[in-house]
Amino acid sequence: MFQLISLSVLVLSAALAPVFANSPAYPHKTTLRTSCGSPIELDPIYITMLIIVIQIELIDARGTAEPQGVSTMFYPMIKDILANTTGGVSQPVEYPAGPDQNTTSGEKFVLDVINQGLRDCPGQSYALFGYSQGATLILNALDQLDAAALSLVKSVILVGNPYRIPNKLSNVNGTAQKDHAESVGMFATSAIQNNSTVPQLSTDVDRSGKALDYCLEGDGVCSYDTSCSCALPAGHLSYGLADAVQNTAFQHVVSRIEPPSHTAKSGGGA
Ligand SMILES: *[C@@H]1O[C@H](CO)[C@@H](O)[C@H](O)[C@H]1NC(C)=O
Ligand SMILES: *[C@@H]1O[C@H](CO)[C@@H](O)[C@H](O)[C@H]1NC(C)=O
Ligand SMILES: *[C@@H]1O[C@H](CO)[C@@H](O)[C@H](O)[C@H]1NC(C)=O
Ligand SMILES: *[C@@H]1O[C@H](CO)[C@@H](O)[C@H](O)[C@H]1NC(C)=O
Ligand SMILES: *[C@@H]1O[C@H](CO)[C@@H](O)[C@H](O)[C@H]1NC(C)=O
Repeated sequence: MFQLISLSVLVLSAALAPVFANSPAYPHKTTLRTSCGSPIELDPIYITMLIIVIQIELIDARGTAEPQGVSTMFYPMIKDILANTTGGVSQPVEYPAGPDQNTTSGEKFVLDVINQGLRDCPGQSYALFGYSQGATLILNALDQLDAAALSLVKSVILVGNPYRIPNKLSNVNGTAQKDHAESVGMFATSAIQNNSTVPQLSTDVDRSGKALDYCLEGDGVCSYDTSCSCALPAGHLSYGLADAVQNTAFQHVVSRIEPPSHTAKSGGGA
């Protein structure tokens, strides 16, 4: 769906923000972001202006202590998705990712982006990604979206989910095959012991085919091993390097994104 907004309006309403904050991939282009999230890319010699209408926002929530920006666990897949789709932008969740696991501000960030899109940006949809603390954040955010907003979420990728519980249809192993393991995530284990709520995919989302919840062998965070005293099991740090995870998640997201009805428009004005 192409939004007919004149270039001058787009420029005037531009809230300057990088589209792919820590990507070195587009060093020669200046990218402005409009209030609707539509980026305008100005090429280095300003001969052509390209208006790309956002079709899909890739919202990723990083894990504890990772620096603000795209999580290293999602960097390869997000880079590939952007390269293989038109109108995609990366939008890392802004939140502390601190040791206290307080995801409140990040949940609000996700809700604000999607609800504002629902109001103002017809035709825009969302793919969500969460790693570790970021997986908790995405689970909590999904729980707070109403049906209309949820329908715009086309894909959910979780890796190293500390609240992972068995028997979810979306549970997959490192090769994206159904994971029948009975193991329980680290925080889910203590939450169950304390009779407190376990954040989890709703039955609807779990059954929708939108979501994949990856747990690598040896990741004691999503598959808690009481006999392992290791603070951060190696498996938990390996998703970014696991080609099978990156490739299958890439395929999943791309297959869930509806083909764009309109791609790009070149020329100086609309
Ligand atoms: C992604 O896009 C690149 C460049 O267009 C292409 O070479 C590559 O084969 C694509 N990958 C997939 C898995 O489609
Ligand atoms: C978590 O963060 C929110 C927003 O930043 C803050 O209002 C709240 O007090 C924090 N909760 C705890 C338990 O620290
Ligand atoms: C995933 O599960 C399938 C089927 O159970 C199995 O054949 C495959 O080896 C598993 N892959 C990994 C990486 O564990
Ligand atoms: C839940 O139980 C764990 C021990 O299993 C404990 O460390 C933690 O503080 C408890 N959390 C709450 C919220 O009571
Ligand atoms: C959890 O609930 C069960 C059943 O209601 C109860 O027996 C148990 O003491 C509770 N555990 C905690 C830690 O509150």
